[in-house]
Amino acid sequence: MNISLRKWEKSDLTSLVKYANNPEIAKNLTNVFPYPYTETDGIRFIERAQAAMIFAIDYNQEAIGGIGLHPQTDIFSINGELGYWLAEEFWGKGIMSQAVQLMIRYAWDNTELHRLFARPFGSNTGSQRVLEKCGFVLEARISKNIIKYGELHDELIYAIRRP
Ligand SMILES: CC(C)(COP(=O)(O)OP(=O)(O)OC[C@H]1O[C@@H](n2cnc3c(N)ncnc32)[C@H](O)[C@@H]1OP(=O)(O)O)[C@@H](O)C(=O)NCCC(=O)NCCS
Repeated sequence: MNISLRKWEKSDLTSLVKYANNPEIAKNLTNVFPYPYTETDGIRFIERAQAAMIFAIDYNQEAIGGIGLHPQTDIFSINGELGYWLAEEFWGKGIMSQAVQLMIRYAWDNTELHRLFARPFGSNTGSQRVLEKCGFVLEARISKNIIKYGELHDELIYAIRRP
């Protein structure tokens, strides 16, 4: 499937809310990504995304997910955190592996970052597999430091370095 990364547009609001309003997605993310996911959440998100390196994953002119690169500050300014999600009906087709590869290339070509990292929950084997396929290395596993919907999870730290 041929996907691309592009800026979020106000006109993406309907597909954003349709796809993001899913507990199967929210349960693997921080509480910044809510469930239920309302129009107000979507409007705020698109405004924030347009001012940052947060892109829509585009398939056939539709936004079917999102991927963001978040540069860190102060002494951590050579690091950027990756966050991403995909509409459930598109899972298991290799789309996020493609999107993460595009984002890595974007980071090396357009930023001064030296290290990209992502922090999937220990229970999120799909995301871990995406990162491994894209060349990320498991750097650390922090035991049961995450609480999500009343359950404890491990935090895994995966990273890739500028070649
Ligand atoms: C995790 C997520 C991004 C995966 O996206 P995807 O497009 O389905 O992933 P891909 O199709 O590129 O899969 C890559 C690999 O992971 C495997 N995989 C994907 N989902 C999996 C799952 N739930 N369990 C086990 N393996 C899985 C695929 O089989 C594939 O491995 P293979 O090539 O060896 O067969 C998607 O399920 C999602 O958006 N989940 C909710 C939000 C989320 O978890 N975001 C990440 C937070 S860190």
